[in-house]
Amino acid sequence: MAISLNHRQFERWREFIYERTGVMLGTDKAYLVEHRLAPLLEPDDQNDLGRLLLRVRDAPTSHPLCQRVIDAITTHETSWFREPKIFGLLRDSILPRLHRDIHHQRRGPVRIWSAACSTGQEPYSVAMTALEAYRNLGGREVCHQEVVILASDISRRSLQMARRAHYDRAAVARGLDDYYLRTYFTSCGGGWQVKDEVRAMVEFRQLNLCDSLARVGLCDLVLLRNTIIYFSDEFKRGLFRRLPAVMSRGALLFLGTGETAGHYTDAFEIIDEAGLIYYRLAEHPGHAA
Ligand SMILES: C[S@@+](CC[C@H](N)C(=O)[O-])C[C@H]1O[C@@H](n2cnc3c(N)ncnc32)[C@H](O)[C@@H]1O
Repeated sequence: MAISLNHRQFERWREFIYERTGVMLGTDKAYLVEHRLAPLLEPDDQNDLGRLLLRVRDAPTSHPLCQRVIDAITTHETSWFREPKIFGLLRDSILPRLHRDIHHQRRGPVRIWSAACSTGQEPYSVAMTALEAYRNLGGREVCHQEVVILASDISRRSLQMARRAHYDRAAVARGLDDYYLRTYFTSCGGGWQVKDEVRAMVEFRQLNLCDSLARVGLCDLVLLRNTIIYFSDEFKRGLFRRLPAVMSRGALLFLGTGETAGHYTDAFEIIDEAGLIYYRLAEHPGHAA
């Protein structure tokens, strides 16, 4: 039976989703709520998404049903080495420069934060890129000592998949070339398992970008890609106000193609490197996380 929302129910769901995630659904997205949340209905809900809302509305976000709603309603689209130029820049320029600074004792290990990591392809792509860069910078052991990756997401289910690090054929076909597959994965159970040398570099944590970022600690590189596109302008403004507090001096920020920080904050300088746009934390932005 097709599940449909009336206008009022849809508005209430939109508000709820925005409050809990910062995601602002367009007014034409009732079909998305219907399609994604219908599988969560129980017999007692009598095919009524209004009843499901009553069950989650006053529950804390950590409540299992709330988590299932968030897992279902957020978009987890991702791929390996998404926007490949960024990974080339990391391998050939950014990581070698930071390594030189570590070598000359001008700084400690590099901390990279994948701030909405979905099912893990982004942070594992960063880890593989670092391992590649360190082929010329002292090798794997040095890489493990010098590069630390924190990967977080609001979605518990995505994080479970990311930690498991096992991908089926369809998932590896999205952006992973044969070299990376053979070097950093083992064939297993009809799919592919990310090798321990890559997994060991990434710590996964559940983190809602609506909450305080204080637990994140200071980062040198932040990837917040293909995520703010779902947030309201108000939420983006607030997030960009809080972000500088977890970024080290001169830290870099990467957004997705088509996403911009410029409209919402003046805390970053824009860098345009042959068409690849990213951001550097300006001096003295100083705001609370
Ligand atoms: C489209 S994916 C992007 C994944 C990856 N960054 C990439 O570029 O391929 C967006 C991710 O943002 C996460 N997300 C949405 N709202 C969030 C929030 N408030 N806090 C943390 N993560 C959130 C979703 O769960 C989803 O995994």
